[in-house]
Amino acid sequence: MSESTVTLDRRTFCACALTATAVACGGGGGGSASAPGPTPIPTGPKTTTDTKAGLLATASGTIRDYRDLGAFWLIRDPGGIFAMTAICTHQGCTIGQGGPAFACPCHGSQYDLVGAVTQGPAATGLAHFAVSESTPGGALVVNTAQPVPAGTRMT
Ligand code: FES
Repeated sequence: MSESTVTLDRRTFCACALTATAVACGGGGGGSASAPGPTPIPTGPKTTTDTKAGLLATASGTIRDYRDLGAFWLIRDPGGIFAMTAICTHQGCTIGQGGPAFACPCHGSQYDLVGAVTQGPAATGLAHFAVSESTPGGALVVNTAQPVPAGTRMT
């Protein structure tokens, strides 16, 4: 599922929400001091299956799901291509698509396409990461250890 555009229906979203709650939030609702925290996700360069030309040829609003590869989304908007974390800034659950663009199954935070908070309890937006090409014209590489300003785009 790492390279396809994901559209979750209500049933799938709910199943994901239950899974994310149980796994990412330790099944304790995410607020308990005794509940295990989210599983750490190794950061660093992650090679996707998308190319710059291919993703730029898609419609604005296209979202590629790389949560399995490195907990991020690769997104096409009117400005170009950017990568953004899929980890909620509230308490670290993995967000899914929903709400204006993204929604957290744990406590209901919502984010728009560029990761700005549209509904709390999250107070800060989603981090963006550096995107480069593995070779000229090659696969896109997202470095989840290298944050960039939210306005950064590959064009
Ligand atoms: S972890 Fe609480 S809203 Fe996402």
